Amino acid sequence: MTPSSAPPAPQAVSSPVTRNAFFIVATVNDDAASRASVRAWCADVANLTRAIGKRVPSGNLTCVVGFGSQAWDVLFGAPRPAELHPFREFGTGERVAVATPGDLLLHIRADQTDLCFELATQLMTRLEGAVTTVDEVHGFRNFDMRAIIGFVDGTENPVGDEAVHFTVIGDADPDFAGGSYVLVQKYLHDMKGWNALSVEAQEHIIGRTKLQDIELDDAVKPDWSHSSLTTLEDADGDEIKILRDNMPFGRPGHGEFGTWFIGYARSPQPIEQMLENMFVGLPPGNYDRLLDFSRAVTGGLFFVPSEPLLEALAVRDPHAAQTVAVASALDTANARAKHDTLASAGSLAIGSLKGAPRYE
Ligand code: HEM
Repeated sequence: MTPSSAPPAPQAVSSPVTRNAFFIVATVNDDAASRASVRAWCADVANLTRAIGKRVPSGNLTCVVGFGSQAWDVLFGAPRPAELHPFREFGTGERVAVATPGDLLLHIRADQTDLCFELATQLMTRLEGAVTTVDEVHGFRNFDMRAIIGFVDGTENPVGDEAVHFTVIGDADPDFAGGSYVLVQKYLHDMKGWNALSVEAQEHIIGRTKLQDIELDDAVKPDWSHSSLTTLEDADGDEIKILRDNMPFGRPGHGEFGTWFIGYARSPQPIEQMLENMFVGLPPGNYDRLLDFSRAVTGGLFFVPSEPLLEALAVRDPHAAQTVAVASALDTANARAKHDTLASAGSLAIGSLKGAPRYE
């Protein structure tokens, strides 16, 4: 790729904020047939999302798929995304950003639960026998973007071109241009403890006012506030942002109240720096007091291939592939064109994807 050419289209990483999200983390079963099924499935994702999304165009259905470090090697081999590695743990004792198993991440978003549910069902049915789900959370948008702890969440997210700039890999890793990294953690909150705090104490912990969601003045905002510890600057003093789409979830009947943290960036580095600041502290010991009321119970890092690369991965031979086969991308693009023609002719041809050749 020449430095001036536009990167391949990203998956729907910076899609609009939606009312619902399903998060599914799965491990790939340890046999050749399972790995072949997961690879072949990569070509189904966009088609299924399109087909189901068309039924409710206003529902903003999207799906982002990511792969963990070890999974990448066994599924696709070399080349591999330059910065993909297993989730790095931060902190000690009571306050640890734990790493938990996960090879495959599905981040399904829509403005209706039924759209998320249908797409999750179709995608997981095609993965039956090939993967084992290790975590599944159905998140909901809580009033005016409130996290379950009552504060507006997502305010400082980059938007538009800025979101693309901070999330999409460019010339830094040409084989993986158009891709992103995504870091996820499931948090459970001690709501009794949190609600026992005064609003003022909560505002100091977050670094913003609760009702109006205004950033606290530097004179009163503690340097251990969540906002202070997650604000990063580069050497020139410019802010380095990530794109978050956290979702509240819970089971009130079980006393469970949580936040599914999901952060996209073009490198894992800034998200990991934020985790270090939160869990270890800046300087060490000056940690994020939100963690006195929030426990991370999962943690995973995934690479999100560009849309054309995801389709091309379906025909990747992990033993032979040394370069991303442009020809494969073209083949799948042609197959998609054929699929669209069939779809518009009234035959959706999705069933035929089930019978797609296996490559191992
Ligand atoms: C317990 C889970 C979490 C909750 C409930 C939470 C909640 C919030 C809230 C309410 C805000 C202020 C409004 C906003 O700008 O979005 C915020 C800001 C932010 N959070 Fe979190 N967050 C959590 C975990 C994390 C983690 C794990 C990271 C990064 C690794 C992170 C990164 C950020 C960033 C970058 C900001 C914007 C800071 C700024 O520019 O002022 N958050 N979060």
